[in-house]
Amino acid sequence: MSISQLEKWNQRHREAEHEGQPAQVLLRNLQLLPNAGRALDLACGRGASALLLAQQGLETHAWDFSPVALTRLEQLAARRGLQVHTQCRDVVAQPPEAESFDVILVSFFLERKLAPQLIAALRPGGRIYYQTFTREVYLGRGPSTPEWRLEKNELLHLFRELDVHYYREDGSATRVKTDISDLALLVAAKGV
Ligand SMILES: C[S@@+](CC[C@H](N)C(=O)[O-])C[C@H]1O[C@@H](n2cnc3c(N)ncnc32)[C@H](O)[C@@H]1O
Repeated sequence: MSISQLEKWNQRHREAEHEGQPAQVLLRNLQLLPNAGRALDLACGRGASALLLAQQGLETHAWDFSPVALTRLEQLAARRGLQVHTQCRDVVAQPPEAESFDVILVSFFLERKLAPQLIAALRPGGRIYYQTFTREVYLGRGPSTPEWRLEKNELLHLFRELDVHYYREDGSATRVKTDISDLALLVAAKGV
């Protein structure tokens, strides 16, 4: 992690006017969440998804390296009467421990080399919820660096040892603007 990267994110979170939206992959698949257990919003930003996970009754953890983002999340959680365990953590240097979560959500954060550690961090039966931008686009939103965008079917490949419960990829084949244009969404579970 470089200081300039961290400062860039601190600044973005400081200037953001609202909390952001929960991840579409979560909003569209609430029915696939377990009734109880530990959930992690990895690289959570201001934590709109973490708040929704907590609202669903899960013991929710939210990690990000931006203290500005986490402070905003903590304030919002307190205002809504929700408990979210925040941790200021470089998730690349310190990924989650083996078999420590029932749900791991990753939204708009792509660090390919973490995939094996995220799989290992799921408890048996645990689920990963993942969404981020694809290279193939209709709207053309998201980062301009191709490396930061997914190849076709890449989430399926990165998490191929898991059982796929939901997959959606809305690239150039989609001819209408939606909340998931230019995104790939995956929910996949570890066998018990
Ligand atoms: C595009 S934002 C996504 C935030 C949130 N997941 C969402 O969907 O709104 C990427 C987040 O990753 C965080 N981040 C980037 N590199 C990180 C790292 N190595 N460790 C922890 N957080 C990191 C940034 O601070 C930022 O909040």
